[in-house]
Amino acid sequence: MTPPFLLVGLLLATRLLIVMASDPSPLQDFCVADLNSTVRVNGYPCKDPRTVTADDFFSERLRNIGNTTNAFGFNVTMLNVNQFPGLNTLGISLARVDYAPWGLNPPHYHPRATEVITVMEGSLQVGFITSNPDNKFFTKRLEKGDVFIFPRTLIHFQQNVGNCYAAVLSSLSSQNPGAVTIGRAIFGSNPDIPDYILAKAFQVDKQVIDELQSHF
Ligand SMILES: *[C@@H]1O[C@H](CO)[C@@H](O)[C@H](O)[C@H]1NC(C)=O
Ligand SMILES: *[C@@H]1O[C@H](CO)[C@@H](O)[C@H](O)[C@H]1NC(C)=O
Ligand SMILES: *[C@@H]1O[C@H](CO)[C@@H](O)[C@H](O)[C@H]1NC(C)=O
Repeated sequence: MTPPFLLVGLLLATRLLIVMASDPSPLQDFCVADLNSTVRVNGYPCKDPRTVTADDFFSERLRNIGNTTNAFGFNVTMLNVNQFPGLNTLGISLARVDYAPWGLNPPHYHPRATEVITVMEGSLQVGFITSNPDNKFFTKRLEKGDVFIFPRTLIHFQQNVGNCYAAVLSSLSSQNPGAVTIGRAIFGSNPDIPDYILAKAFQVDKQVIDELQSHF
């Protein structure tokens, strides 16, 4: 007979696999996050539904243009569960991305979400790359009103290809999509990945890696 603790372990393992597959499905109409709770669960515990008001489902955070004065010329204003507790357990979040002329949202991916962008202003060149072994590059020029999909976990970017300001509304299939920016993660990790490892990985001299690391 299987010892009970093994069964419990198996059950927990299955449960973990299930909850890691996507954001958990709600078991109630809503579960406005109690961001201050000391309870640790996948997501956030619900605040008392009797204290929930319309304001828990409302945000004016995306009204304002982000400040794009930085090296890349873009700014992401996130609206995930951490800024918008009403999204807890609902499997969705939003962001607004603003771009200075020729600004770039550099290659990155979202570990927990597919992203769909809608161009609100300007023209953008966008693209994503498929996984190994093909690493196929899909790219498209978008105009105001156009929509484009970045499938979950694939590396993607957007560049403003005009002399005017541009902006997109981004919808993401997780309350907490996460982001890994390739340049920053590889060349700006904390602590640094040793330069001889990256030199071999990228098939260049260590000086090239040191130069890249100095930018992040
Ligand atoms: C969490 O705590 C902060 C300050 O400590 C407070 O302003 C906020 O209202 C609290 N939020 C909830 C949901 O209790
Ligand atoms: C994005 O814009 C906000 C609001 O203007 C600003 O506080 C923030 O520092 C900007 N972020 C970057 C990376 O420039
Ligand atoms: C935008 O950010 C830059 C660099 O941090 C800063 O100098 C500038 O004052 C900011 N602009 C606004 C409108 O906040």
